[in-house]
Amino acid sequence: MTPFEYLKKTEKKRMVDLFRFLSFPSVSAKSEHKKDMIACAKWLKAHLVAIGFKTKIYPTAGHPVVYAEYLVDPKLPTILYYGHYDVQPPEPLELWKSPPFKAEVRAGYIYARGAHDDKGQIFAQIKGLEAVLKATGTLPVNVKLVIEGEEETHPSHLPDFIRKNRKMLKADVVVVSDTAQFNRTLPAVTFGLRGIAAVEVFVYGPNRDLHSGSFGGAVTNPVNTLCDMIGKLHDKNGRVTIPGFYDGVKPLNKWMKNQFRRLPHNDAKYKKSLGVSALGGEKGFTTLERTGARPTCDVNGVTGGYQGEGHKTIIPSMASAKITMRLVPGMDPRDICNKIEKYLKKIAPKSVRVKVEKSGGAKAVLVPTDSLWLQAAKGAIKKGFGNEPVFMMEGGSIPIVNDFKKTLGLDTLLIGFSQHDDNTHSPNERFRVKDFNNGCKTAAALPEALAKAEA
Ligand code: BES
Ligand code: MN
Ligand code: MN
Repeated sequence: MTPFEYLKKTEKKRMVDLFRFLSFPSVSAKSEHKKDMIACAKWLKAHLVAIGFKTKIYPTAGHPVVYAEYLVDPKLPTILYYGHYDVQPPEPLELWKSPPFKAEVRAGYIYARGAHDDKGQIFAQIKGLEAVLKATGTLPVNVKLVIEGEEETHPSHLPDFIRKNRKMLKADVVVVSDTAQFNRTLPAVTFGLRGIAAVEVFVYGPNRDLHSGSFGGAVTNPVNTLCDMIGKLHDKNGRVTIPGFYDGVKPLNKWMKNQFRRLPHNDAKYKKSLGVSALGGEKGFTTLERTGARPTCDVNGVTGGYQGEGHKTIIPSMASAKITMRLVPGMDPRDICNKIEKYLKKIAPKSVRVKVEKSGGAKAVLVPTDSLWLQAAKGAIKKGFGNEPVFMMEGGSIPIVNDFKKTLGLDTLLIGFSQHDDNTHSPNERFRVKDFNNGCKTAAALPEALAKAEA
């Protein structure tokens, strides 16, 4: 039996296993789910043990890390797989067509929180490895797996875990399936990820909420002011106005521009799929350039004042906003956090007090595109999906990829299987059954391809 035949034969059972994995509400951001995180880690451990991995759960100051290994021969290359079992909060619940933690297949898609980000994708890697093990009795490479529970939240204790376990994690290359394909006919190898910098800004006005009739006109309204400040983060060309924001950002080189140009993107279809009549963003760049290779600044949420039923006529005493900026090579998250803090404080009127909480972030990632590992990954994708993958840059961030390079000296192969319209972080997150199965096939073809690349 070949690994592919094994995958075919076990398709139903694999889906049952995935549905069980998806049933844990492993929401890392919320302390009420601490127990669910542990339960999920334990289930994952048991699953890996049953496949034949030596597995251990490592507690951290936050959520536990699941580590597993299958070591064959020190002379063979060692592949370090990374994924995350935590998921984003599922809210708003009323927009889900089926419960987020009760997976369901509808019209060829698995619907559940974590369906592709990242439970479904790391599971595809695990099931691919299982197929090779069951079909051939061994693996052609040594395998180490790190599956964390703090990717979707802050802070993550994984950088620390990696520093403390350098020896255990010694490897030749990292494999991550936590990105998307270009579209339904073009699988992809991602060679660039944007970084991220996060702040929360608080605007304080009067010492309590005030009657907006009695006091309106005399006191600065923190919500009005915050909106005004947010409005000043961009100019009319969509450029970020924070002084020094673009320092160190290099123009796209010819090779990159070419990679973007080769991808079949259509703005009209894109607009239609998003339900918008026009696109926004920085002038002078294409949509793929703006989302893949240019820095941005976005408000992710605002609070302040009364949001309940009916009207409440007040001047709220405070307002706040959570802001993240996507970074490209040449930008440093701490520097960017300092710059936005300075700017927000400068543009605020004297009549309010401004506080900026800086949570830092991660630098952008660029991986070498000329390595033999990458050629091998391309070959495995071709075997799994039937099509040659394209090279692309992604707008999302996977912070730990920086640490793999910095701490372990390793490059990462970013080979993701989801689609951009799979509702990542959104209600009705999904994963196409076909993408899941082709992802499993890619994962089953990958170890041999990597073994050959080394030889
Ligand atoms: N899997 C995503 C990253 C991603 C999304 C890569 C889309 C490529 C395309 C990851 O789980 C994620 O959501 N990362 C966060 C990082 C943040 C919480 C520090 C992100 O990008 O917002
Ligand atoms: Mn992810
Ligand atoms: Mn995510």
